[in-house]
Amino acid sequence: MAGITDAEFLKRVIPYGFDVVTLGGYSLDEKTIEASRKIIERGRKEFHFEIDEVIPHIESEVNSIKNSYPDVRVSANVRSALPEPIIEASKIEKLDIIEINCHCRQDEITAIGCGQEMLKRPDFTKYISKIVDESESEVSVKIRANVEGTDTLEIAQGIEDAGADYLHLDAMDPNVFDADWKLLKKVCDNTDIKVIGNNSIDSREKIMKMYDCGVYGFSIARGVISGSLNFNISDF
Ligand SMILES: Cc1cc2nc3c(=O)[nH]c(=O)nc-3n(C[C@H](O)[C@H](O)[C@H](O)COP(=O)(O)O)c2cc1C
Repeated sequence: MAGITDAEFLKRVIPYGFDVVTLGGYSLDEKTIEASRKIIERGRKEFHFEIDEVIPHIESEVNSIKNSYPDVRVSANVRSALPEPIIEASKIEKLDIIEINCHCRQDEITAIGCGQEMLKRPDFTKYISKIVDESESEVSVKIRANVEGTDTLEIAQGIEDAGADYLHLDAMDPNVFDADWKLLKKVCDNTDIKVIGNNSIDSREKIMKMYDCGVYGFSIARGVISGSLNFNISDF
């Protein structure tokens, strides 16, 4: 969660039992950094670093987590109009997973063809496969389901064909505070990629429902902000 999930925050929630944590999102190139600056100006939380500071910053955050929790895998969620800065970030020594943010729906990010707007780019799968081919970390692609004008299953299959290691799927149903369970199952049934199911998890029941859909794993965002999860993640 941009502006929230830094190393300090993640070290506080790891004791819930998470085996992977995600730093970011971070903007890596000139266009997305400028978009982040505008988002901050209108009062929304963001991480904001200059272009020559951002990768060293992510590296120090990764090291900070690894120094305390060497066995926890660390992912960094990043945005960039061009693939090269993401490939550069994937070289951070102790980083386990680089996560391409094709999910953000803030206007400043979508206006430059990034975030969820990436899903509509004609070169989308080419962009992903370039990163996959040159990355030195595992590659996760974070997408939002049900983005108008896109077919989530087709996108998921494109990401699988591009060779990504994980599909991190925010199975958002725009009409309710709940995941689109039918769509999540459809994606799991029709792909072989490791699907990390995400959206609205706040109970054991929802985690079980995610696994019933066929996910490889699950992730929780808003549920950890309050620090009030009433179950231990490592039970699953
Ligand atoms: C304040 C806030 C900031 C977020 N920032 C990011 C981000 O930078 N990158 C990203 O992929 N998702 C981001 N998300 C989306 C969450 O990671 C997650 O996909 C979404 O909230 C649904 O999961 P949840 O129901 O467990 O919260 C953000 C969500 C919130 C509430």
